[in-house]
Amino acid sequence: MSKKRVLSGMRPSGKLHLGHLHGVLENWLKLQAEYECFFFVADWHALTSDYEDPGSIRENVEEMIPDWLSIGIDPEISTIFLQSHIKEHAELNLLLSMITPLSWLERNPTYKEQLAEIKDKDIRTYGFLGYPVLQTADIVIYKADLVPVGIDQAPHVELSREIVRRFNHLYGRIFPEPKTLLTDTPKILGTDGRKMSKSYNNAIFLSDPPEVVEKKILTMMTDPARKRRQDKGNPEVCPVFLSYHKIYSNEDTIDWVKRGCTTAGIGCIECKRSVIPKVISRLEPIRIKREEISKDTGLVNRILKIGDERARAVASPVMDEVRGAIKLA
Ligand code: TRP
Ligand code: SF4
Repeated sequence: MSKKRVLSGMRPSGKLHLGHLHGVLENWLKLQAEYECFFFVADWHALTSDYEDPGSIRENVEEMIPDWLSIGIDPEISTIFLQSHIKEHAELNLLLSMITPLSWLERNPTYKEQLAEIKDKDIRTYGFLGYPVLQTADIVIYKADLVPVGIDQAPHVELSREIVRRFNHLYGRIFPEPKTLLTDTPKILGTDGRKMSKSYNNAIFLSDPPEVVEKKILTMMTDPARKRRQDKGNPEVCPVFLSYHKIYSNEDTIDWVKRGCTTAGIGCIECKRSVIPKVISRLEPIRIKREEISKDTGLVNRILKIGDERARAVASPVMDEVRGAIKLA
């Protein structure tokens, strides 16, 4: 039996950080070993919100692909490509947009949330509303079986399934309904205790050298109620514990932190110092490989050329099938 096909994309948001590593990339690595994987850079999706700054999108593509490679995403095993190079996504997006009711898009929770939250750019555009339609095209143009996403993206895949059902009902059964492969995404907190994000300026990047990692963790926020060394703390509200010890430390160390923190037996610096080397040793091989990769300036283009071709070889005949079904000849 042939392997099931997995498809996932990431918007080019620049250098990747620990949030991406533990939330997405480690999962991609596992999937790569088991499935036929298509991983792509969603540069058109980035444009839906950052259309005023297209130059930085291209720069971010150049940063992101080396990050993928440095953690072990392997272009010989997986197909790595750039969304905007495969025009079939756009054609299918157009056709799917004909059959997608506005109400489905308007009630999309992510859309409503972002309209309310994002104030620094005008996202009241046709393209932004249609984000999930383009995402559906991304998925079904490869007849992907599985789409690994975090819980926040699950409504989008649900919407994709609805669009596929409507398409198949109207024009014949062409697309499989993509299934969500829900990934357990640990919430990685940044140095200020908020969710790690480049835009919050609180991220530990995969490319940060050891001394920078050390400094970022040493200055990281802790339990805000633990102001002095003699105050007792609560690890369950402390980002150092929740996002670092819980991922990097063994049970003995975790017990040591819980006991030491709640009794003021250990200080925060001591607590941080016990996790810092573990974070550094996870990141060191990644950073070294990344430095190696970035010496080869033509690498990103070479990888995309191969990946684009492989992607197009799948997308193009599917598009023929779709045109036939819609009598577009
Ligand atoms: N929306 C995804 C994100 O938040 C990116 C994406 C675009 C995607 N198309 C996709 C993910 C298709 C999975 C499948 O970054
Ligand atoms: Fe956080 Fe550790 Fe300080 Fe407790 S001792 S508040 S877990 S850094």
